[in-house]
Amino acid sequence: MFHSKIAGIGMYVPKNVVTNNDLKKYMDTSDEWIQERTGIKERRFAHRTEETTTTMGVEASKIAIERAGLTPQDIDFIVFATLSPDYYFPGCGVLLQRALQMKSVGALDVRNQCSGFVYALSVADQFIKTGMYKNILVVGAEKHSFGLDFSTRGRNVSVIFGDGAGAVVLQPTEDSNKGILSTHLHSDGNNAEILAMYNPGTHANHWSKGQQLADFDEAELGEMFMSHDMIDKAQNFPNMDGPAVFKVAVEKFPEVILESLKTNGLQTSDLKLLIPHQANLRISQFVQHKLKLRDDQVYNNIQKYGNTTAASIPIALCEAWEEGKVSDDDLVCLAAFGSGFTWASALLRW
Ligand code: ACO
Repeated sequence: MFHSKIAGIGMYVPKNVVTNNDLKKYMDTSDEWIQERTGIKERRFAHRTEETTTTMGVEASKIAIERAGLTPQDIDFIVFATLSPDYYFPGCGVLLQRALQMKSVGALDVRNQCSGFVYALSVADQFIKTGMYKNILVVGAEKHSFGLDFSTRGRNVSVIFGDGAGAVVLQPTEDSNKGILSTHLHSDGNNAEILAMYNPGTHANHWSKGQQLADFDEAELGEMFMSHDMIDKAQNFPNMDGPAVFKVAVEKFPEVILESLKTNGLQTSDLKLLIPHQANLRISQFVQHKLKLRDDQVYNNIQKYGNTTAASIPIALCEAWEEGKVSDDDLVCLAAFGSGFTWASALLRW
């Protein structure tokens, strides 16, 4: 069995910087509130019409592919993680395959929100280990600015998120001490509604215990998916019970990080860098404190980009690598927690 190593990494964020004060144009909020609760100072918003989740993924991929010394035609499988796809279907994987004029390789889309990139990496890792593929492109990208409620009503969610993309190329290595040492995936669907976008969807209020997430009884047959009523009632935006998410996140992040270290007979002191999904600076700080990690062992860049969901880990890993904070033989842990709930980690030796 081979191990998989990251042979190339790239990131892309839109040029348009949106500060906390800029958000005051749309909602009642303040720089102080946002920084104090989330650590975020600014985020990037994609160009309305010239950029999509896929086009940002394409830009990050070009860099990752070039750094791996390859061309898009060398890629033999694509895994694309996002919660904000260009189309409801088909997924972004095929759009990226088209944009990069790749061969007719397999393109898989992963819908695991904040832990999407780690899930995607884990899938790619299995294909490399078995010798099935040799150059897999793994992408995480989001265009959140298109789908949030920017009125005061949605401020607890909309101030947190930003747009961007990251990508890696995975290749096999015969060195069993290098690359991805293990991946760990978990889920608990009992909390699916705590952090979710219900509509458009086919749920028909089935899971919501009497709560009307949309009015399907009155809607015409052709209006079930997206109705005027749904829009009038702002039922087409994400919902989040922030304190409930916080409580579980600070429990599951450390658990899944320790699981990866224990599996490999390693300890937190062996870690060069922890790259947590950039959910919220307060969550990262809580996890750091709980695991007794030094400041230089935890990488955070949510201050500049906000929470970019599936893109946050590859963006942070790319920046850390570009800044020389990750180099040969360093032990790096990628860890994520988010909607589902799902949580996951990947331990790798660079
Ligand atoms: N600006 C100003 N005031 C706000 C804003 C805002 N953007 N958003 C909410 N408020 C107000 C509320 O209306 C409320 O006012 P009230 O007391 O008068 O009713 C007050 O602030 C407190 O609201 P809470 O929702 O209780 O705020 P909380 O202190 O819990 O902070 C936050 C919200 C930051 C979301 C917090 O719960 C949190 O960090 N949760 C973790 C969830 C998270 O990080 N999610 C990220 C995405 S999911 C993921 O990646 C895992």
